[in-house]
Amino acid sequence: MRFPAKALTPTRFAEAFGVFVARSLEYPQIITQLVRVTQECSPGYACFDVGAGTGMVVRDWIAAGGRLPDRFVALEPNAEHIRALETELAELGCETRLIDAPFAAEFSMDESFDLIYFSHSCYWFTQPIECLLNAYQALKPGGRLVVIHQSPLGFYPFYTLYNPLLERDRPDGQDNALSSHELVAGLRNAGFSPRYVIEPSWMRMNGIFDEAYQDELDQFVSFLLQAEFSQMNDQFRADAIQYLKAACVEIDDELVISHPTACIELVKE
Ligand SMILES: C[S@@+](CC[C@H](N)C(=O)[O-])C[C@H]1O[C@@H](n2cnc3c(N)ncnc32)[C@H](O)[C@@H]1O
Repeated sequence: MRFPAKALTPTRFAEAFGVFVARSLEYPQIITQLVRVTQECSPGYACFDVGAGTGMVVRDWIAAGGRLPDRFVALEPNAEHIRALETELAELGCETRLIDAPFAAEFSMDESFDLIYFSHSCYWFTQPIECLLNAYQALKPGGRLVVIHQSPLGFYPFYTLYNPLLERDRPDGQDNALSSHELVAGLRNAGFSPRYVIEPSWMRMNGIFDEAYQDELDQFVSFLLQAEFSQMNDQFRADAIQYLKAACVEIDDELVISHPTACIELVKE
C-alpha cells in the first residue's frame, strides 16, 4: 500500500529547510570542520561552495575564524535561497561569483580551486560519486574536497523506511536515501582513500509534539520526507510521529534526536 504525497516545491523546500535548521544543533560542527580546513589552506586560496543555500554556512565559518579566500564561488539553483545568498556574498569581503545552476556529473568546471565543499547538497545528485569526481578534477594539486553529509544513523533510517511507502506526484527533489556510508564506499571503489569522520550531533525537539506546534512538526517532517506531511494520510502520519517520538531522548532538560553528521575529505594528489 502506498500513500499519495505531494513533493516539496523549491519554495516549500526553502521554508521547510528553515524550520529544520532552526532546530539543528549540528551547524557548530559543520562550521568547526570548515574553519579547520580553511585555516589549512594557503593565503590567497580559491574556494567553491556547491549548493551554498542561503549563504549562512560561509557567513558563519568566516565569522568563526575561517581563513577568508581571495575568491569564493557559490553555486545554488534555488531562487528562494539565492536572494539571501546574494546578500551574504556581497558582505564576504573577497571576490565572489554566484552560479545560479544545478551541479551535476557533467557540469562544466571552468575554474580550478584549492577547496571545494558540499555541505548537505549531495542528496540532489542522481550520480553522486560522478559529481564528486567531477569536482575533484577541478582541484589544484594539493587541493581539498570536503563533503558534509548525513551519516547512516539519525534520520536516514526514518527516510529509508517511510519513503518507499509514498507515491510522490514528482520524482525530483532532495533524496535523503543517500548517506555518508554509500558516498565513502563509492569513493573507495573509485580508488580513493578519503578521511572519514562521523560526529555525534542532535536536533532539538522540545515541544514539537505538542498540539500548539503542529505546523512546525509538519514542516519539520516535510523536510525529512521531502513531501507535504500535513497532506498525508492519518495512519501514515500517526506511524511517522510515533517513530520520531520514540527516537527522542532527554538530555539536560532538552528533548533531542540523535542525527550524527559525517565529514568526508579527499586531497588532490
Ligand atoms: C540541505 S540544503 C544545504 C544548504 C547549505 N549548504 C547548508 O549546509 O546549510 C541543500 C542545498 O542544495 C541545493 N541544491 C539543489 N539541487 C542542487 C544541485 N543539483 N546542485 C547543487 N546544489 C543543489 C538546494 O537548493 C539547497 O540550497
